[in-house]
Amino acid sequence: MQTSKRRYALVGTGARAGMYIGSLLDRHAEVGEVVAFCDPNGTRMAFYQRQVRDKTGQTPPAYHPRDFDRLLAEVRPDTVIVTSIDRTHHHYIIRALEAGSDAITEKPMTTTAEKCQAIIGAVRRTGRALTVTFNYRYSPRNAKVKELIQSGEIGEVLSVHFEWLLDTRHGADYFRRWHRDKRNSGGLMVHKASHHFDLVNWWLGDVPEMVFAMGGLRFYGRDNAEARGVEHFYSRAYGSEAAKCDPFAIDLAADPELRALYLDAEHEDGYFRDQSVFGDGISIEDTMAVLVRYEGGAVMSYSLNAHCPWEGYRVMLNGTKGRLEVDVVERSYVSGSVGDHKTLEQHHVEVDPSYGRGERAERPTLLLQKHWERAQAVPFEEGRGGHGGGDVRLLDDLFFGASDDPLGRAAGYLDGARSVLTGVAANQSLATGLPVNIGDLVKW
Ligand SMILES: NC(=O)c1ccc[n+]([C@@H]2O[C@H](COP(=O)([O-])OP(=O)(O)OC[C@H]3O[C@@H](n4cnc5c(N)ncnc54)[C@H](O)[C@@H]3O)[C@@H](O)[C@H]2O)c1
Repeated sequence: MQTSKRRYALVGTGARAGMYIGSLLDRHAEVGEVVAFCDPNGTRMAFYQRQVRDKTGQTPPAYHPRDFDRLLAEVRPDTVIVTSIDRTHHHYIIRALEAGSDAITEKPMTTTAEKCQAIIGAVRRTGRALTVTFNYRYSPRNAKVKELIQSGEIGEVLSVHFEWLLDTRHGADYFRRWHRDKRNSGGLMVHKASHHFDLVNWWLGDVPEMVFAMGGLRFYGRDNAEARGVEHFYSRAYGSEAAKCDPFAIDLAADPELRALYLDAEHEDGYFRDQSVFGDGISIEDTMAVLVRYEGGAVMSYSLNAHCPWEGYRVMLNGTKGRLEVDVVERSYVSGSVGDHKTLEQHHVEVDPSYGRGERAERPTLLLQKHWERAQAVPFEEGRGGHGGGDVRLLDDLFFGASDDPLGRAAGYLDGARSVLTGVAANQSLATGLPVNIGDLVKW
């Protein structure tokens, strides 16, 4: 039984921060509290300061990033939660650990091999705990896959075929935001695929060894739109006539939270969250294929497309005793209407039953077929809430303390590094056209 509350400082007060703050104000309020914020944008910090004050009567102090060390010295948080833009994670993780706090970071843990190395060094040097929040491990359907593999149902896994589809709302969103600059996010190979690479590392209980990738920016971006005959362009949606006819445009003014967090905050930092996906300046890929070999000998073919008409994933795992097929539809179509904004990632993608009018099956399925047997559907608990029910379970583990979990869902810095490094290796391979040995990227 915990007697005093654990004190959390939160760095990066954008959309994702809301999940942690909301949880500490509600379900986990008995065991933890937010004691400070850090972000370059005072308007966004004030948004969450109000939320905390309205609920608790206390207003956690707000610090600019230049004063982060002062935050650590003055507030002395038990744990720093890092939900800032990806390229900044390493800085806050390392400073927090060095000051004697623990750290929890959003995925991706970081964006480059050098930053991975620096984080590994800081964890080893300080002995402090670093948790990486891989919420997809906690979604019941993904946990069931782990359980089936771990219990030997398909024998030793020899190969994986993994396709992830991002749709023209959620997928497009990466091309409107800071993610479109590869320096910020590492591209979707790091920012997005690290989620998926982690799932496979965890499912197989294996470590990636060799990576080869191909891909590029083929759909979004001005060149591609021009080549398809598009003639009307704009740089950001707000105030643009051209954007009114663009189903890819997002209307920040139409959603109170998007307005408060971004439109009303942009006078401070000039950050536009509604850039045209067909504008210039995009340096990330939207169409990617990757081959990975694992130390245990398994191989994976993986593909990620960020411009699909529906969103979800399909995974085929071939083992020595049979095959497991995972089929998940997270959103069966995008209508192109303003209401689609509600199901963007920051609003936590959920399977919405009202979308079940099309041809596509809405219920996720797990199909197990052993050699010499008919296929059988494997039942599993349906997850509710963000990321297939993963978010709420993850938060329980983080704030109530990880239970004795036979599936080993809690992820640490090594898991964070291995998932990121597969993406970093894929980026290197995209640039050179050559396979990349992960062992050459960092010293473990
Ligand atoms: N696990 C998931 O499913 C999931 C879902 C959404 C986001 N995320 C992660 O959460 C993080 C934040 O994403 P988001 O969607 O909230 O983005 P966001 O743009 O809404 O918020 C990012 C925040 O970082 C702040 N920031 C920028 N530079 C900074 C700096 N130097 N120091 C501190 N803060 C800085 C911005 O001002 C902004 O408030 C990302 O790492 C992302 O990968 C994870």
